[in-house]
Order: sequence, then C-alpha cells, then structure tokens
Amino acid sequence: MPPPAQIRLLAKLAGATPAVEIGSGTGRVTLPLAEHVPVLAVDASEEMTRQLAKKTATLPITPITADAAHYVAGQRVDLVCALFNTFFLLASETTQRAFLHNAARMLTDTGTLLIETFVPRPGQRLPDGPHPGVFPEGRSVVALKRRTVDTVVVFAAENHDDEQEFHYSEIVLRDGEPVRVLPGQMRYWRPEQIDALAGEAGLLLRERWEDWDRTPYDTDTSARHISLYRLAGQSQ
Ligand SMILES: C[S@@+](CC[C@H](N)C(=O)[O-])C[C@H]1O[C@@H](n2cnc3c(N)ncnc32)[C@H](O)[C@@H]1O
Repeated sequence: MPPPAQIRLLAKLAGATPAVEIGSGTGRVTLPLAEHVPVLAVDASEEMTRQLAKKTATLPITPITADAAHYVAGQRVDLVCALFNTFFLLASETTQRAFLHNAARMLTDTGTLLIETFVPRPGQRLPDGPHPGVFPEGRSVVALKRRTVDTVVVFAAENHDDEQEFHYSEIVLRDGEPVRVLPGQMRYWRPEQIDALAGEAGLLLRERWEDWDRTPYDTDTSARHISLYRLAGQSQ
C-alpha cells in the first residue's frame, strides 16, 4: 500500500481535474487515489491495463493502454505523475523526452508534473519496495532479493555506465517449479540531468523531496527523489 501522505499529496495536486498517472501498473496507487479524484491510468502494457480494469468497480478510473511517448490527455490537467521509478522504466531517452513534452502539453498553467524515482548510487539497495534490488558498484552485481523456505529470488544486474542503462533480471527459484527469469531495463539519470531534460520540455523544478513526508532532498544521501515541475514562465 502506498503511504497515506502520498495519496493525500497526489489528490491535493490533482485539484479539480483528473490525475494522469503514467505507468499505472495494476493500480497500487491508482486505486487509493481514485477514492479522492478521477484517474486517467495509462500503461503501455495491455496486460496491466486489463488487470487494473478488473479492479476498478465503481471507482472513477479510466484504464488506457498507451505509450507514454504518444499519450496526451484530451483535456488539460493539474497533475501528471510517473511514480515508483516509472520514468526510468520508460527505458529509452527518446520515450522519456517525448513523455516530458507530452506532460508539458497536458498541464494547466498551475499544474504539476511529479516524478518519483531512485537516485543512481553505485553499490546501494534500490528504494523499490520490501525486497529491493541493488545498483551495481562496478559493472555487475548478483544479490539475494528474497528468500523463504521454498523460494529464492536472485537479482542479477549490469550497469552500462556510459549509456546510463541498467539491465537486470530477477531469477525466481521455487521448489518443484521451472526456473523463471524476469528481465527488465532502465534508462537512468541523476536528478540534475532530469531537470535539464525537463527544462528542454519547458518545465522547471519547483520542489524536491526524498520521501512523501516532504523531507528535503539531500544530494549526498537521499536514495530517491520526488520532484515536482511546473511550466516555466508560470509564477507559483
Ligand atoms: C514500476 S511500474 C509502476 C507501477 C505503479 N505506478 C506503482 O506505483 O506501483 C512501471 C509501469 O510502467 C509501465 N510502462 C513501461 N514503459 C511504459 C511506456 N513507455 N509507456 C507507458 N507505460 C509504461 C509498465 O508496464 C509498468 O506497469
């Protein structure tokens, strides 16, 4: 479950318009957020959208299968968000740049683009839930992600420093079942690099915290950042 402070903040930022959540997945945040505001829940994966649609019941959620590179809502909104490392999972610089431009096009003059993602710090655990992966200290890393009596989940990752790409696999070993390998890829950036990309899309950093309680971001220690951008040229 997302922290209540997160839902309160997102609902407040969404104001009187629907919230646009890019990379809504199966609705971890979408569902509680929709208790407060309508949500346009966008995900490139048809499977994710289908799973979310099964859970929406009477909640004001519109599941949309679309790529962040192309999606622009049919109305201007006060909040566009990409949570839980989704910005990095857009996986290519082209898609990330297109997403930032689309977000700027969707926002009202007082609207907010909110990005929550980890800070690439070699050798550190990623702030991605109770069973985190690891950002490699050198070129690669193998780490235990989770272990129970009959299951072991191993995390194996490679960092391509020059391209700022992080390739990883979760290897699931469960007694009596075939081995499963779940690969993923991220295009990662340092926070100030995201600011520069956002700037090129006409967006300006307004706030940056390290958690949903709005603890100020620390450039030396914060494991992740929650960054809020507004349209450049708007005073607020
Ligand atoms: C880490 S999950 C985030 C889930 C959810 N927002 C949360 O906070 O739990 C990232 C999601 O982004 C989606 N995704 C990846 N690339 C995308 C793209 N280019 N456009 C839209 N969604 C994308 C994936 O399908 C996945 O569901």
